[in-house]
Amino acid sequence: MVNTKVTLSGLTLDNPIIPASGTFGFGYEFADLYDINILGSISCKGTTKEPRFGNPTPRIAECTDGLINSVGLQNPGIDKVISEELPKLAKHYQKPVIANISGFSIEEYAYTCEKINDHEQVGIIEVNISCPNVHNGGMSFGTNAESAFAVTKAVKKVTTKPVYIKLSPNVTDIAEIAKACEAAGADGISLINTLMGMRIDLKTRKPVIANKMGGFSGPAIFPVAVRMVYQVYEAVKLPIIGMGGVNSARDVIEMMLAGASAVQVGAANLVDPFACKNIIEELPKVMEQFGISSLQDIIGGSH
Ligand code: FUM
Repeated sequence: MVNTKVTLSGLTLDNPIIPASGTFGFGYEFADLYDINILGSISCKGTTKEPRFGNPTPRIAECTDGLINSVGLQNPGIDKVISEELPKLAKHYQKPVIANISGFSIEEYAYTCEKINDHEQVGIIEVNISCPNVHNGGMSFGTNAESAFAVTKAVKKVTTKPVYIKLSPNVTDIAEIAKACEAAGADGISLINTLMGMRIDLKTRKPVIANKMGGFSGPAIFPVAVRMVYQVYEAVKLPIIGMGGVNSARDVIEMMLAGASAVQVGAANLVDPFACKNIIEELPKVMEQFGISSLQDIIGGSH
């Protein structure tokens, strides 16, 4: 009997599989399909201070081995998330969840994180400084070590829950950004968000996505994610939630060998709503195949 449990900042997860923010709603939307309590945790839809309608459509462009999105952080705003969305999730899911927070200023990040900090089901706050689809916020905080430091510091000042900073791969030196977050007091690092991409329609000769560019995710970015998780594991002493193109139990194990303590599954949910369930069911068999008795023991095992 293999052991799939892992720990993240003192939280024990039954397994390391977590649907990634923006690919699984607030989780309850999937409760009619299967018992979502099998999930290690859920990273909820990215939340901002104010409600957001998101970007104009089309927002999605399909690609070989992936897709580009430019959703633009559509969400009902922090007050509705606390009063409506999280209570709906609590009816179906009884484990700690990850609240994913975005902002357009340091003050806004701090405000929203302070509010969500008091919610009892929130086990980890994941601060998204890497959304490529909004102006004056999102990724602009995550592509510069000073602003990554400043956001982390401001959020840590007003929260008591573990704070994980979600990093962008659209940088020259991911280790430098991770180190800045660690120096500012981050409890963990989530990576990677999407890579900037673009498609052009041959008939119209125009960009497929209304916002022209978007974030590319899916199996094609998996090797980039593994490389960056590996680099960040060497650079900081913080737990890492690895993500980017994870599609199978073998991918989960590879990501953990690179240094991830837990793994988020993103674009795969958009192709198959049962993706996380399938990976969880597949995991013990693949562990046995590779002689792994406990997943916790393999974290960073490739270093
Ligand atoms: O457009 C979006 O809502 C994407 C968010 C993200 O990639 O962080």
